[in-house]
Formats: sequence, structure tokens, C-alpha cells
Amino acid sequence: MTIKAPTLNIGGLGTDPLEQRIREKQTKWKYKIAVLSGKGGVGKSTAAVNLTSALAKMGYFVGILDADIHGPNVAKMLGVEKAEVLAERMEDGHFEMLPPVADFLGQVTPIKVMSMGFLVPEDQPVIWRGALVTKAIKQLLGDVKWGELDFMIIDFPPGTGDEILTVVQNVQLDAAIIVTTPQEVALLDTGKAVNMMKKMEIPYIAVVENMSYLICPYCGNEIDIFGKGGGRKLAEKEGVEFLGEVPIDLKAREASDAGIPIVLYEDTPAAKAFMKLAERLVKRLNELKDGGSGEEQ
Ligand SMILES: Nc1ncnc2c1ncn2[C@@H]1O[C@H](COP(=O)(O)OP(=O)(O)O)[C@@H](O)[C@H]1O
Ligand SMILES: [Mg+2]
Repeated sequence: MTIKAPTLNIGGLGTDPLEQRIREKQTKWKYKIAVLSGKGGVGKSTAAVNLTSALAKMGYFVGILDADIHGPNVAKMLGVEKAEVLAERMEDGHFEMLPPVADFLGQVTPIKVMSMGFLVPEDQPVIWRGALVTKAIKQLLGDVKWGELDFMIIDFPPGTGDEILTVVQNVQLDAAIIVTTPQEVALLDTGKAVNMMKKMEIPYIAVVENMSYLICPYCGNEIDIFGKGGGRKLAEKEGVEFLGEVPIDLKAREASDAGIPIVLYEDTPAAKAFMKLAERLVKRLNELKDGGSGEEQ
């Protein structure tokens, strides 16, 4: 009787060429940032897309990876959902995908976008779980020609599932940005996401409070629909940073449906808030990288 020897694939030993490629590629990405949340619908993708666009507006080279395999919408929010993904054959025979680019008529540095949404027809559900999701995420990281990036922003589905685990195991994240709305129920789940990032020893963890308040279009006063300030309190309680607040802005929803990030509408309250967040994020990351000097590069 013959017994088939098991194929060993021990992480870290470089036996998997795809994992090896991810390791090599990320050396060209200066800052790797995860955007996550405890709950869906809190504006995580909106925050990821607008931070990306704000950084690109500041002149940085940014890539955004939509790690929401089941509900990808980053490409649509950036107006490139109809883009075709071409592939190139590499020297060793494997194929690499060329990420579609969003540049908004030159208003930002070209943003490289990769998402499952490009690879599956819009009305078809992806019914994968577990190992297949893990493989898809790895391919979106390692089988894409990302090139040199100042920032790699990764937008996750809500919660703490296979997607974030796969990324944490394969990419050395510099920061996790956790998006919440101010209500108690959202904050409870946000606490879990913060704690997961702490357990995974992500060097910089920051909370963003989205839909923090509404500016009345008639009188200009702030209306705290969901009760402002919960995000800041949670950050203080957990000992992580509070990066800032983004108001509810009707234009933000319209813009994202139209495939144009709100940061391009410069005089809107949400655009101002996202630009401020991006500036603070760059400052804090540079401070951490230079060991405290705080100089922008
Ligand atoms: N600050 C905001 N003001 C107005 N609408 C917003 C704001 N943030 C998000 N939205 C809208 O809320 C909906 C959910 O946002 P989305 O970013 O898809 O959430 P998530 O990724 O957390 O599920 C979208 O229609 C989006 O345009
Ligand atoms: Mg989303």
C-alpha cells in the first residue's frame, strides 16, 4: 500500500510563490493601511475612497484594494467599474493583472484600483467562502502590477473575517483605520474591531467617526442626529488615536453614487473633513516612521 505524502506549505518559508510575490511587492509600498469597521453601512468604503483620493490630491501615489469580495463597491465609487482588467505574462510564466486607474481629469495623481468587482459581472453574487476568499485576496495583492506606491489602502468588508486575517498574515500593515458612526450599537462592534487590531499588533490604530453630525442646509447649525462624540470616547477608552469626524453630507452620497469622491468638491463640509483626516494621517505616520520628528516628506 502506498501512502501519498502530504504537501507541506509552511507559512514564512517562501514555498508558495504567490505569498513570496506579496512579500516582495509590499517592499515598494511605503504605508499599508487597512480601513475596517465593526458594522456595515457606516461609511467604511466612503472613507477608504476619500482618504485615497485626498492623498492622491496631495500628490501621493496611491493604490486602493477592495478586499470586500462579496460586496465590492470601491470601483463604482471611483467611477471605474466598467474598466477592463488586462493581464501581462511575466518572465516566469505567471500572469499579472494591470490595475485600472482613476485620475479625474488630472485633478489627482493616478489612483490604481483593484477589486473583485472588475472580475465578476455586476449582478452575479460571489458565493465563495474560506479558502477561496483567502486565495482571491492573495491574488489581488500578489498577482497585480501595483508598482511603487506611497500608500496602499485596503478596504475591508465589515467585521473581522477571513479577508482581514489573510491580509494581516501576508502584509505588514502600518495602520488600521476603524470607521464608526456615533450610536451605541455601532460603537460596541467598533470596540471589537479595535481590539482585533490591538491583538494583531498593528502599530497605529485610529478611529474615525463618520456621519458625526449634519449641518442644517437652512440655518448652518450642527444637528447631532446619532449623538456626536462616541468615536472620540471609544478611542480614549481603548487607548488608540481619534483621527477625526466627518459630517453627514448629502453631496457625499450623491457624489459616491456618481463615481466621484466628495473630496473633489472642495467647499463641501465632508471634503474639508476628509482632507483634514488625510493630512493628520500623513503627519502621524511620518512621525511614527521617523521616530517622532513629525516632518512631512
Ligand atoms: N458622511 C456621509 N454623508 C452622507 N452619506 C454618507 C456618508 N458616509 C457614507 N455615506 C453613504 O452611506 C452609504 C454607506 O456607505 P459605505 O461607504 O458603502 O459603507 P460601508 O462600506 O461601511 O458599508 C453610501 O450610500 C454612502 O454614500
Ligand atoms: Mg463597504
